[in-house]
Amino acid sequence: MTEEELYTTYKGVYLPKVVHSTESLKYYEEFSFRPDDILIVTYPKSGTTWMQEIVPLIMSQGDPELVDTVPNWDRVPWLEETRACDLDLDQRPPPRVFITHFKYDMMSTGFFKVKPRVIYVMRNPRDVFTSYFHFSGMASYLVTPGTQTEFLHKFLDGKAIFGSWFDHVKGWMSAAEQQHIMYISYEEMILDLEASVTRLARFLDTPLDSEMKRKIAERCVFKNMKKNKMSNYSLVPSELMDPNVSEFLRKGIAGDWKNHLTVAEADCFDEFYRKQMQDVKYKFVWD
Ligand code: A3P
Repeated sequence: MTEEELYTTYKGVYLPKVVHSTESLKYYEEFSFRPDDILIVTYPKSGTTWMQEIVPLIMSQGDPELVDTVPNWDRVPWLEETRACDLDLDQRPPPRVFITHFKYDMMSTGFFKVKPRVIYVMRNPRDVFTSYFHFSGMASYLVTPGTQTEFLHKFLDGKAIFGSWFDHVKGWMSAAEQQHIMYISYEEMILDLEASVTRLARFLDTPLDSEMKRKIAERCVFKNMKKNKMSNYSLVPSELMDPNVSEFLRKGIAGDWKNHLTVAEADCFDEFYRKQMQDVKYKFVWD
């Protein structure tokens, strides 16, 4: 099916119709943030599901009950998705933890007024692309990606759902001086998950002893987290997400793009990246 059939356009970006209704987008626009809310922000395929595991474990001081019994989409819901309207989020005890894939300029007036704590997770866009390409093949509510080169052009031009990776990262990086936002990369978490848990716990004002940090990191490494059926998307019917095409928790490494992109695709990516990011001063771990 085509973009017109599967997607709605909201503030200039494609969103899949099946999970974003007019009501859910209105709900998001009117959502009442609280100062103690925690909002995880990601461009898709950057480590969303991983954070939906780590943050609740930090907040519960390592108690696994929530992550063992509640699917990731209910334990840390997307604010812009249809499900959010039915979850009675007003009644959740503080601190509430949510996710959004929205760009900075798509955030609501309430967000800018209240300034809840934000954890912004970013990932090498080449790996985001590779992950996104596989994901687009397995999720029936997304337009089939076509060839890798075709999908590369869509990705670079911001024609995938949630728009351009470049706009997303540049927009959120433009808020970098704000104290309520913490930035962390997927690569940093791959390199040293325990140190990342320490940094996150400090930002969330949740003291954890070293044994607890070690245990949380151990639970959240790819091979262990992949076994959690509340987090590995095996609860989703295969008509919606087909693990025989590609698993949601697919490879879980940094640098897999090198196994997939042709030299020509990688060169095209590099040139586009250079032009788009030339004014960004921040030194990304993958640069
Ligand atoms: P790959 O497709 O490269 O394996 P998101 O949750 O934002 O959609 O991102 C999905 C990507 O994060 C997938 O990347 C997935 O495997 C990876 N991921 C999820 N949990 C992870 C973990 N515990 N460790 C490493 N990578 C993880």
